Amino acid sequence: MAKAQSSEHGEWSSGLAFVLAATGSAVGLGNLWGFPYKAGENGGATFVLIYLLCIALVGLPVMVAEITLGRRGKRSPVNSIRSIAGDERQSSRWRFVGVVGIAAGVLILSFYSVVGGWTLYYIGQAVVGAFEGIGSDASSAIFADLKKNAAVIITCHTLFMLILYGIVVAGVRKGLQRAVTLLMPLLFAILILLVGYSMAATGAFGQALEFLFKFKTADLSGTVIFEAMGQAFFSLSLGMGAIMVYGAYLPKSESIPKTTGWIVGMDTLVALLAGLAIFPIVFSVGKEPASGFGLVFETLPIVFGKIPLGYFLGVTFFVLLSVAAVTSGISLLEPATSYFTERGGSRSLAAGGVAFVIWLAGLPSALTWNLLSDVHVVGERGIFGSVLLLANEVMLPVGGLLVAIFAGWFVRGSTLARELETHQGQWLFMTWLITLRFVAPLGIAMVLGFKLWGAFAG
Ligand code: TRP
Repeated sequence: MAKAQSSEHGEWSSGLAFVLAATGSAVGLGNLWGFPYKAGENGGATFVLIYLLCIALVGLPVMVAEITLGRRGKRSPVNSIRSIAGDERQSSRWRFVGVVGIAAGVLILSFYSVVGGWTLYYIGQAVVGAFEGIGSDASSAIFADLKKNAAVIITCHTLFMLILYGIVVAGVRKGLQRAVTLLMPLLFAILILLVGYSMAATGAFGQALEFLFKFKTADLSGTVIFEAMGQAFFSLSLGMGAIMVYGAYLPKSESIPKTTGWIVGMDTLVALLAGLAIFPIVFSVGKEPASGFGLVFETLPIVFGKIPLGYFLGVTFFVLLSVAAVTSGISLLEPATSYFTERGGSRSLAAGGVAFVIWLAGLPSALTWNLLSDVHVVGERGIFGSVLLLANEVMLPVGGLLVAIFAGWFVRGSTLARELETHQGQWLFMTWLITLRFVAPLGIAMVLGFKLWGAFAG
């Protein structure tokens, strides 16, 4: 039986299934919503360059480490790390890396679901033809009205969590992944189309290129680096065990470096395409790049309301954006669900409990711009922004730092090499190990250290 499963066709399809699931996790609101608005707020090209550096020097090695640990441990992150630590005669306290990851996942999904709800709302807006012929002000007004409407935001947030819960319980993840095979290329196609429109019709493509790719030292600051690193972790789904738990289901025969290359490559490409589609529109309608987290919702509808087939494209785009958000949301739910299932709960009970807690935790975020608009937590930031800051920019990098230290320093090189099916002298392996041991942890520690130091000093 085992032999039959490792037939060439079998291997290919299971490797593909993993790449799809992991890409489904990585490509989401982080790429289409998060990346453009953060780049816009943080000086464009400077942010983009640091982001790409973080992807290459920190994201890549940490992703290989997470997948390797997951496939070696084969269970939820908490128990995978515990069992590997046992094998390596290290303290079982390392499992708390998995526990922190679960907490980070809960926090992230609490606000992610609110934004996921917005994508559902925008499907509705597209369907009723709300974008027909609108300009920049009308488009911004749609978003502003949504933010002010507590009832609608909570309804959409609830709907989004229900969809996630339904998918996890119905066990249709396989079916969903198959659907993603079709939908991802479609999302990709629409993005290319939008980039094409921005290139041809806005008259501001050059300006956008310059904004996104012309590096200016003057824009460099601790905050930009800090935000870019958090965004790199967030976009790649790293630092909380989501990729680790997906790695636990990866067949032994698959090449981890190769699959990682695909996931990281596609994720980065989608983010850059989103930037190239959105910024020309931003400049052509005279909007500020730094106008905040509404950017994607405020700009694209203008185009959908204007171009031929725009109605159809708008509906399709927001459906696909919701699907991308759902496949990412599932992976945020998975580490906690798998952990509580291992502790003896049924899968539906575990997922239901976790989903309920997340739904509750998301309510304050949903109320940030209406009922709780006077509440400021971190500096000027309201609840939503503060949770986002804590989870994305602090907890994920800390999780990634601990994964890098654990895999790099507390797991024997021979164990890692065996799991990666290579030998310790191989150049790619050595490059990876050096990056994992030195470059990634030092980089993360420095960015976090300077930021904290800055926060206390200033
Ligand atoms: N990467 C996803 C996005 O870009 C979000 C996401 C899914 C995530 N799973 C994660 C972020 C795990 C951090 C950790 O939208």
